[in-house]
Amino acid sequence: MTKPAFFITTPIYYPSANLHIGHAYCTTIADTVARYKRANGFDVEFITGSDEHGLKIQRKAEENGMKPIEYVDGIVANFKKLWEMLGISYTKFVRSSSLEHEKDVQKVLQDVFAKGDIYKKKYVGKYCVPCESFWTERQIEEAGGVCPDCGRPVETMEEEDYFFKMSKYADRILKHIEEHPDFIQPVSRRNEMIAFLKQGLEDLCISRSSFDWGIPVPFDKKAITYVWFDALLCYFTGIGFGTDPEKFKRFWPADVHLVGKEIVRFHTIIWPAMLMSMGQPLPKHVYGHGWLVVDGEKMSKSKGNVVDPMAPIREFGPDAVRYYLLSEIALGSDGNYSREGLIRRWNSDLANDLGNLQYRTVSMIEKYHQGIVHKTVVDNEVDAKFRTLAAETLEAYRKQMDAFQLNDAIKTIWAYVGAANKYIDVTTPWILAKDPAQTKRLEAVMYNLADAVRNIAILISSMMPFSAPKIFEQLGLAVPDQFHLDDVAWGNLPDGTKVAKGQPIFPRIEEEKEAKPAAAVSKKETGKEAKKEGVVTPDEITIDDFARLDLRVATIKAAQRVPKTDKLMQLTVDIGGEERTIVSGIAKFYTEEELPGKNVIVIANLKPAKLKGIESRGMLLAASDKEGHLVLAEAPGIASGSKVK
Ligand code: ME8
Ligand code: MG
Repeated sequence: MTKPAFFITTPIYYPSANLHIGHAYCTTIADTVARYKRANGFDVEFITGSDEHGLKIQRKAEENGMKPIEYVDGIVANFKKLWEMLGISYTKFVRSSSLEHEKDVQKVLQDVFAKGDIYKKKYVGKYCVPCESFWTERQIEEAGGVCPDCGRPVETMEEEDYFFKMSKYADRILKHIEEHPDFIQPVSRRNEMIAFLKQGLEDLCISRSSFDWGIPVPFDKKAITYVWFDALLCYFTGIGFGTDPEKFKRFWPADVHLVGKEIVRFHTIIWPAMLMSMGQPLPKHVYGHGWLVVDGEKMSKSKGNVVDPMAPIREFGPDAVRYYLLSEIALGSDGNYSREGLIRRWNSDLANDLGNLQYRTVSMIEKYHQGIVHKTVVDNEVDAKFRTLAAETLEAYRKQMDAFQLNDAIKTIWAYVGAANKYIDVTTPWILAKDPAQTKRLEAVMYNLADAVRNIAILISSMMPFSAPKIFEQLGLAVPDQFHLDDVAWGNLPDGTKVAKGQPIFPRIEEEKEAKPAAAVSKKETGKEAKKEGVVTPDEITIDDFARLDLRVATIKAAQRVPKTDKLMQLTVDIGGEERTIVSGIAKFYTEEELPGKNVIVIANLKPAKLKGIESRGMLLAASDKEGHLVLAEAPGIASGSKVK
């Protein structure tokens, strides 16, 4: 049986400079959707590429003393390197400078010309070189004398050029948009385009004669094809328009062109007019995503705040960058990129939530069952309810992915992760392990957990293609060439699977420590304040006294009973990147298994002391009831190393 076809594209990016985090954002979304479709059994074509022609690139090359092709060759190599680092699974990278593409553009021009949709006219107009786009006097005026898209100055161009009869298609395009409510998404972009079309369309100038870096117009070799008429056709070249008619037929029309909001107009007006003239069907959807700003500001060379995505990929790994971009921003809205935000997300969602779930699960199976998973079902309501989460999560996840709600889809997976962590807390495997009557239940609980971790790995595989296989490996499962979402169901983990604990897959990223001097200053000032308040009584302390305590959030990494005592637990904790050993009298109230992953509060500047020969550096805060039962003070979700004040 042949698989259903799915075709998705990113914009064909300009190689005028290296790509930044905004381009990585768009491409990561497209890649995640492409992987999601493959995991649903689709045959996917996923096209990206480089839009290499035009005046902007020609000038850029001249500035660098190079020929245009020499200049773009270097940058295009960097595009490809970036996509490789980020795990982008495109099926074809289309270079608009390729011969294959040139032939496609010339064929289309010839056809449209033959159809009578191209004519020659003298043209004087305002042109924005960075946007490679002509504007009418009215549009320029409304924008205050500058380019309506980018706000930069426009140039006057005067040429005898070829025009494409776009106006002829205005009504049909408007009708199409109105009759296909989900053609342009989100709805705000759709409304903008309807308003734009209702003002009427002018014909489009599709040739240039003032420079030569581009595709010659086939019926007038002195003229160069307008770069947008050329670039949009990269989507055709990518699926074999001129080379593989079978393939082209199978994949056109595209399921979705994913583009930034500033180029929705090109994709929902110019491109449809071209397609109508060619007699081709229109793409099913054009999705205009929002813009990424950096630390609240628009990225720009002059501000020097352009983020090179290779830097965070090198520093934190590709999945950290992918996860952050996908989870932080609702597709369609603008969003913010910050290094701190990325670290925070990784630490809370990945290191704490998913990482701990996976690590605790595998550790417990090793400890209680020598690493072997026993497929066991017992009659228990909590278990039964937990088992249904796999199918429920999959259903909700698919709905959201199909609606391009990627960040919601992530939240759905994380609700499952949270439920699995809670399942550990509720079922208390460490207590079951002590009760011979609970042998079967413990097996069932361990199975349900391992099976949930397997399901979660499959669910995240489209977003985090580097991490999902690592989870499979630690579960002792063979990594498939292709993850299948249909495998997300309770019970697909084979009985007898042997897990293999390895390195933590989502190790904490350590945040920079707080700047010490600032803290010292504030301490002094608050001290002065307190003095003014009056005399301190013997059982009161000043804020100064309190400030001497260095209270910190710490994450427990490992816990081990101190042999030959019933009270003491030896803990390895992480305090903002520093590992310490703390011996604490909580062994009667907590087990070794339930402690790792907890965020607790410690007095970090307590004088070290030796307990049973172990040097303890710090003390955990705990509350004690009348009977002396201890409950640790916890700070869930707060980064380790954070100050408690
Ligand atoms: O427009 N935030 O190429 P381009 C999010 N060659 N996404 C951003 C972004 C930001 N700050 N900045 C750029 C072109 N993008 C044409 C396309 S298609 C046939 C021709 C993304 O290099 C976003 O997807 O200027 C935007 O539409 C695209 O990069 C523009 O890339
Ligand atoms: Mg642009």
